[in-house]
Amino acid sequence: MKRTIGLAVVLGMGMLLATTEGEQAETPVKTFMHAKLAHSQSVLEGLAIENFDQIAKSAQSLTLLSEEAGWRVIQTAEYTRQSDLFRRNTRALTEAARKQNLDGCTLAFVQVTLNCVECHKHVRSVQQARLDVPNPMPSLGLTR
Ligand code: HEC
Repeated sequence: MKRTIGLAVVLGMGMLLATTEGEQAETPVKTFMHAKLAHSQSVLEGLAIENFDQIAKSAQSLTLLSEEAGWRVIQTAEYTRQSDLFRRNTRALTEAARKQNLDGCTLAFVQVTLNCVECHKHVRSVQQARLDVPNPMPSLGLTR
């Protein structure tokens, strides 16, 4: 019984350490990926208050991010396809904002959001296949 408690404490401390380490390690990829989140939240805000400038600016930032080298984390055909789709959707969003078409913007934003989820599904499936490398992005639920 004592042994079991001892083991539980050791395991618990290990898990605690692992979590803190994970949180402290703010990698460039992580910072980059979080910029994506910030811009898409800004699009949502723009949609909610009908601010077309804000929508266009944030959508354009998303397009620019997706064109940077830091975006290409994974080298698969599907990742390239998802990235192309993402750019097409963020461009459509920018275009709709320039035309001051709120419904068009909303639809394009839904498509961008679906794209986030689809690409992450792919990323997870690729990384789950690499079980030998430690989990780099716990917040995505990725296990390498
Ligand atoms: C073409 C693929 C792709 C698309 C589209 C995509 N992402 Fe990502 N995302 C990634 C990759 C790759 C990672 C990092 C995974 C890794 O390094 O292990 C990531 C990680 C993240 C993370 C987690 C960072 C962390 O702290 O762990 C967030 C948040 C995120 N993306 C937000 C978004 C949002 C919001 C969208 C849509 C607007 C989006 N992503 C669209 C590929 C994509």
